Amino acid sequence: MVKLSISDIYKKIHEGNKIALMTAYDYPIAKLEDEAGIDIILVGDSIATTVFGKEDTLSVSIDDMIHHTEAVSRACNRAMVIGDMPFMTYQTSVRDAIFNAGRFISEGKCDAVKLEGGRNVAEKIRGIIDSGIPVMGHIGLLPQSYHRYGGFKVQGKSAEGAVELIRDAIAIEKAGVFSIIVESVPKNVTELIKKYVKVPVFGIGAGEKCDGQIIVVYDILGLTFGKTPKFVKVFKDLKPVIKSAVSEYIKEVESSEFPADKYEYHMDERERERLDQLLKKMEL
Ligand code: KIV
Repeated sequence: MVKLSISDIYKKIHEGNKIALMTAYDYPIAKLEDEAGIDIILVGDSIATTVFGKEDTLSVSIDDMIHHTEAVSRACNRAMVIGDMPFMTYQTSVRDAIFNAGRFISEGKCDAVKLEGGRNVAEKIRGIIDSGIPVMGHIGLLPQSYHRYGGFKVQGKSAEGAVELIRDAIAIEKAGVFSIIVESVPKNVTELIKKYVKVPVFGIGAGEKCDGQIIVVYDILGLTFGKTPKFVKVFKDLKPVIKSAVSEYIKEVESSEFPADKYEYHMDERERERLDQLLKKMEL
């Protein structure tokens, strides 16, 4: 199977199709997503909250991200894999941004990187792209900047806020991003953003007019805990499935029903007899 390239993604959109993106953080889930036909997998820094159980995404390290990105990349035969650059791995300087994006590609074996921000990161985006690495942009609600916004809030709800988002989208398109994720933005504002840029716009809580949608895998599987944003739809709730499998296992272990004969290893009759003889001769 051939891996999807950026031009394959563009072609699919130009032919009138939508792109399906999803996060993954490990080999088995990435393999299932790839086999199901997902187009783009993002190894999101949302790993911090969804997998590591942290409050926010600010303390996830680049080593953690690269470790998981490499596992996801190994699982994918078709999907394009994007590594999400964590907090303070690109904001500090163009040099840091290039160096750390390079680590995602050479160690994480992914196809591109994503980073959060608009005009404030345009120079860093340009530097990474000039070094040969494709970049996906991300505007709207930026979890790495939640202290600045005073929480996880829908962005672009005021006329001025919407103009700021349009300016950001234009700036990162000029810097060279191949696509833009728009998160938690009123749908009419996303539609406006789409009018001002040519690159594909992928939405998460940004309405249906986008070129595709991205979602956190554990959200659609009902495997997130606590409050979820309005845009989350649980497609299959695996919580009761997992809980009942674990409860059954506990019951069968406690009753010695598990492991049954078919899950056990056996020594053949001849070896058993030889063992008996050896044990008789053995001095203890
Ligand atoms: O980290 C992440 O999962 C993301 C998506 C929500 C876009 O950035």
